[in-house]
Amino acid sequence: MKERQILPSIDASPYNLLMTQAAPALSDSLLATARALGAVENGQSLTDALLEVQPDLRPSAQALSFYAMRHWGQAMALRRLLLDRVPQNPTVYALLGLSLLLLEVALSEPVERDPAAPTYTAHTLVDQAVQSTQGQRDTLNFKGLVNAVLRRFQRERAALLAQLAQDLEAQYNHPKWWIEALQKAYPQDWQRLLQTANVHPPLTLRVNVRATTREAVEQAFAAQGITATAFGTAGLVLEVPRPIASLPGYSQGWWSVQDAGAQFAAPLLELKDGMRVLDACAAPGGKTAHMLELAKIKLTALDIDNARMGRVEQNLERLGLLNDEVELIAESAMRAHTWWDGKPFDVVLADVPCTASGIVRRHPDIRWLRRATDLKPTAKLQREILDSLWSLVAPGGKLLLVTCSIFPEEGELQAQAFLKRHQQALRMPAPGQLLPCLADPEHPAGQDGFFYALFSRQV
Ligand SMILES: C[S@@+](CC[C@H](N)C(=O)[O-])C[C@H]1O[C@@H](n2cnc3c(N)ncnc32)[C@H](O)[C@@H]1O
Repeated sequence: MKERQILPSIDASPYNLLMTQAAPALSDSLLATARALGAVENGQSLTDALLEVQPDLRPSAQALSFYAMRHWGQAMALRRLLLDRVPQNPTVYALLGLSLLLLEVALSEPVERDPAAPTYTAHTLVDQAVQSTQGQRDTLNFKGLVNAVLRRFQRERAALLAQLAQDLEAQYNHPKWWIEALQKAYPQDWQRLLQTANVHPPLTLRVNVRATTREAVEQAFAAQGITATAFGTAGLVLEVPRPIASLPGYSQGWWSVQDAGAQFAAPLLELKDGMRVLDACAAPGGKTAHMLELAKIKLTALDIDNARMGRVEQNLERLGLLNDEVELIAESAMRAHTWWDGKPFDVVLADVPCTASGIVRRHPDIRWLRRATDLKPTAKLQREILDSLWSLVAPGGKLLLVTCSIFPEEGELQAQAFLKRHQQALRMPAPGQLLPCLADPEHPAGQDGFFYALFSRQV
């Protein structure tokens, strides 16, 4: 029989624009989630995979898949121990990983559980996982396999878990190469960084000070019983995540979703009215909007991805920041001859593409999608973009290098190599490597990992 489920809490991802609806059957949610996870195992981003889930199942599939990705090292290790061979069906293979994780939650003591874990009884879970194979033709033949694997896990749980104790991937839920890269770069901090990446992040906002004040937003939230804590100059953090479109002021453009670590970029640039500014890798426009909120600048915002550039336009429109001084161009930062009018920029923001290793707590699929071999070509692309952009900076002007990565190749090493290549570049004060952290007195909103290096072009 199909059982109605208790929906786990919805993740505070910037992608979560979804409203929670009447709970669907758990078996349907498990199958939809397994399809999304199977797509991630085949290289698709979780965001794209979730867009293919039917709308009524999406909120539960999102919550279940975010939990699963944060524990996927454990899921993969259990599958290896319990399966003699991989079933020739990616959905069933992912369903086994997902169900094993949820069954482990069901069988564990409440004090041992991740507070964000979706909890069902073991009986419900096994029954619904088996049931979920019966809804569609491609999974019909796997009922017996799912039943056998889950029941064996129930019987042999203690011995199986003991075998995971020596498995780094299962313990930290990151790929081995990633763990080793952090061990090398952060011999003191690597464990904390890996653990932070698996904690459900808060919903962090930046108030649009052109449209309103932080006090006004706090009051509007308080009127609906929503508690928000202020941080930085315009930040607000909500302890209890909510669907963002349901919060007061969303359609009026009073605020944007932006992690605390990303809110350093625009203020570092000390923007003044009338400055010529280039946002060279702008989409989806978080930092573009922040710059426009701080000063009346002449802004060229560029991104190579036409569809993502459309999101910049939508975001600026919602925030009331589009005007005649703002130019949006879908082109490569490295093809300046196609879009540049030849007048140097006072400020260039280079928020270059990166592995996104600093933002895995909000995008838990990233660690499983990246490969160790991605790092070199990504750092090379960054170097090429930076070198192209440097020639567009006016004498006395600034270039800000930003990445949302914690790998030194995309941070400090990149900045040092840039200085070596460009004699006229002078390094200015900037935060450098910001490491991801949970909320503490110094960081009320916690933060994702970012790297900032600011260069001024000597006259
Ligand atoms: C880290 S994201 C930028 C985030 C954005 N600045 C924000 O705050 O919302 C990097 C962006 O660089 C874009 N990109 C990649 N290669 C590019 C290139 N050659 N020229 C311009 N943009 C590029 C990607 O499409 C992606 O949107």
